[in-house]
Amino acid sequence: MMQFTILTLFPEMFAPLQESILKRAQAANLMGVKLINFRDYALSKHKNVDDVPYGGGAGMVLKPEPIYAAIQDLPSPRGQRRVILLTPQGEVFQQRKAKEWSKLDELVFICGHYEGFDERIRGLADEEVSLGDFVLTGGELAAMVMIDSVARLLPGVLGEKASAEEDSHSEGLLEYPQYTRPPVFNGLAVPEVLLSGHHRHIEGWRRKESLRRTFLKRPDLFLHTEFQGSDYTLLEE
Ligand code: ADE
Repeated sequence: MMQFTILTLFPEMFAPLQESILKRAQAANLMGVKLINFRDYALSKHKNVDDVPYGGGAGMVLKPEPIYAAIQDLPSPRGQRRVILLTPQGEVFQQRKAKEWSKLDELVFICGHYEGFDERIRGLADEEVSLGDFVLTGGELAAMVMIDSVARLLPGVLGEKASAEEDSHSEGLLEYPQYTRPPVFNGLAVPEVLLSGHHRHIEGWRRKESLRRTFLKRPDLFLHTEFQGSDYTLLEE
């Protein structure tokens, strides 16, 4: 079972993890979500978690001690634990990272909020990760997105075994077009080959469409694509 542990000042923000597929995954003990409000670890009477920046300037800075104490207080890990700090300065999160994390036993997310955090908090994390090149009000939404993408890779979370493997980005390409009934809709027909029942032709068509889509929409992805020998023949056709 994958354990997601989240250090946050706003545990109520994580309500969406209690819906739909992730709700079912938790009920089936495929994953667990533990929310820790690190304000509970604040030392002062008034439970302060932030303070003014040394050297002056606008905004408040998260203090290191409450987060440090919260990490110290975690039960010893049952297996491989990774501590993640959410920050726009981190490495940008990608499917590759979701796959890597899905093999661990516990992910601990430290969610900053407000303007920033004391530099010494960085020392508590194994990795700094960003959701993308934009700034959020806090790490909470970023953590939720990452948890969702890791959770769906865990064995048993998605219905069909194959469905996570075939998605967009799972092989560094965009997914091929999908169709269901009816065979003609608003004058638009389903590609002939998909109705043929010819498995090898369908595979070839799908691979070619994946390559075509990636070329047209996200050529930057080709920098990391692992091409197959048969791709060359496909593209020559
Ligand atoms: N906190 C604020 N902005 C963020 C981002 N882009 N990714 C992760 N955490 C953040």
